[in-house]
Amino acid sequence: MKRRHITAAALAAALLAALPAAAEDTVRIGLILPMTGPSASTGREIEAAAKLYLQQNGTTVAGKTIELIVKDDTGTADVTKRLAQELVVKDKVAVLAGFGLTPLAAAAAPISTQAKVPQVIMAAATAVTTEASPFIVRTSFTLPQVTVPLADWSARNDIKTVVTLVSDYAPGLDAQKAFAERFTKAGGQVVEQLQVPLKNPDFAPFLQRVADAKPDAVFVFVPSGFGAVFMKQFVERGLDKSGIRLIATGDVTDDELLDKIGDVALGTITTHHYSAAHDSPENKAFVAAFQAANAGLRPNFMAVGGYDGMHLIIEALKKTGGATDGQGLLDAMKGMSWTSVRGPITIDPDTRDIVQNVYVRKVEKRDGALYNVEFATIEAVKDPVKAAK
Ligand code: PHB
Repeated sequence: MKRRHITAAALAAALLAALPAAAEDTVRIGLILPMTGPSASTGREIEAAAKLYLQQNGTTVAGKTIELIVKDDTGTADVTKRLAQELVVKDKVAVLAGFGLTPLAAAAAPISTQAKVPQVIMAAATAVTTEASPFIVRTSFTLPQVTVPLADWSARNDIKTVVTLVSDYAPGLDAQKAFAERFTKAGGQVVEQLQVPLKNPDFAPFLQRVADAKPDAVFVFVPSGFGAVFMKQFVERGLDKSGIRLIATGDVTDDELLDKIGDVALGTITTHHYSAAHDSPENKAFVAAFQAANAGLRPNFMAVGGYDGMHLIIEALKKTGGATDGQGLLDAMKGMSWTSVRGPITIDPDTRDIVQNVYVRKVEKRDGALYNVEFATIEAVKDPVKAAK
């Protein structure tokens, strides 16, 4: 009798040890990214950064195990929406994260609202994106946030006439509007505004119009991953030798692509919130660890949005003691500040959007490779569209 009793207890203990952590001991994070298609570089960078964050900081928070579930939405909004639904209903994720493009973030927003699940935007950068759900929090940037400082720089640096050339969708239109408003206020003149289709863009006819208009500068926004195609056609059209200066948001001289774009990019002035060349001990350690873990791949601003997004989620879970109620997590995220590899950042508690430094940079060669070298800083910039409301 006694023997049987012990055996049963031992069996129960063995079973318990062999079972995976019970559901309530695991906190799942659903990471929805374009892992294939034209924005695959965004997915690759964010996934690598999120995994690096967990590798460096461990997968246990407040006694719970963190599980990252990565899903490929192929950059298609219908797929994003279906995946968000599945992750909430079947996988019971505590947080939805990722969102490589504005339409993809918008597609998931109703699900985040209904389920009261925080939606951490690591990439999409249209100003209004955060207003699509009260559960959205952003760790990327907004186009107006990085564009206004470029309009200011241009007006102060002998640029009097500009043609704008942007991808024809929400963030491009945001960038164009922010540039034109600010530059015009500063006394400059926007002589033409061009919108290029987002899908399979052929820049040639638009670049011809830039050449014909002969402005002092052309201001460009294309999303991460499209800069190399743009630059190739810029050179093919002879724009690099036209005397028309190229100014852009940092999306165009994206760190993952920059070295492949080559010397034609030298001297390009851009504004953005992150450069792999950012001079801080935190960033040097981040770049080294990211490259070591990813066969030398250079982290770009997408990677940093993902890395900081993971920090936000993990720190919020620490604050709640591992509790995953959506409102509690959201409240823990609001107002959080930390030293990112990009510099100091804060989640504005009122708008749930990121407040961060914007840097003016110039493409230069360092140790044989091209980098966006920062030479001026505008501190603690809020999204100007929401700040004006
Ligand atoms: C966006 O779709 O919001 C987006 C994507 C990539 C960028 C910037 C904005 O580089």
